[in-house]
Amino acid sequence: MNKIKKTLKDYVASNRQISCVTCYDSSFAKILSDSGIDIILVGDSLGMVIKGEKNTHSVTMQEIIYHSKCVAKNKKSSILMVDMPIDSYINELSALKNSREILKNNVDIVKLEYKDEHKDIIEKLISNNIPVCAHLGYLPQFFSDQVDVRIYGKSDIEKNKILEQAKVLDKMGVDIILLECVESNLAKEITNILNTPVIGIGSGNHCNGQVQVLYDIIGVSENPPKFSTNFLQESKSVEEAIKKFKTHISKLNIQNK
Ligand code: KIV
Repeated sequence: MNKIKKTLKDYVASNRQISCVTCYDSSFAKILSDSGIDIILVGDSLGMVIKGEKNTHSVTMQEIIYHSKCVAKNKKSSILMVDMPIDSYINELSALKNSREILKNNVDIVKLEYKDEHKDIIEKLISNNIPVCAHLGYLPQFFSDQVDVRIYGKSDIEKNKILEQAKVLDKMGVDIILLECVESNLAKEITNILNTPVIGIGSGNHCNGQVQVLYDIIGVSENPPKFSTNFLQESKSVEEAIKKFKTHISKLNIQNK
């Protein structure tokens, strides 16, 4: 088992909720790591929140590496996870080449959005010792604007599909599964039956951890999703807001018992 999976599984075993927040620069990376955030994610949400685009599609390898380098300077002991841009994993070879390119920058794990056609790609990465997070549910790279943001897994067909995909990924040995906008009972079921640590965003309170976009939780986003909370509103500083987010999710654990 690689170091990342071991660390996260230890957190799960000790009932610690895994905290994950997106970040795109070194100043915020310092605040996040000093606040004890477990995973810092250089998400391709940077297409929207940094570049001002409608979606993630324009994000390039060059841009993701630039932001990863900035964040890596101050990630300290946090795990640094980085999104693979939309065109960077079109086949096994490109996925392997580009994930290695990303990992060179003091990055710990790559994340990619999973559809069934990516099975061989994930297998290739795992067999080459690339730590992988697979993203299920709402997959922003496959939509051109935010209108497709909805809860996934409400119908039996969709529920069975996501459940099956999660089981396949678990069996393949991915390090983390990220569920975005997955129906909360389904997210709970997936979390309970898998060996892989599961983190969620907009997927209820029963995953092994929670992910949030930094600018949503510090009130900078213009249209934050309904499931996010502005923790800066009642804090005196960004540091305090991040710590409140971390405390908030650690309580979910107690409620889940
Ligand atoms: O790119 C991103 O910020 C993400 C999170 C929303 C999970 O993938």
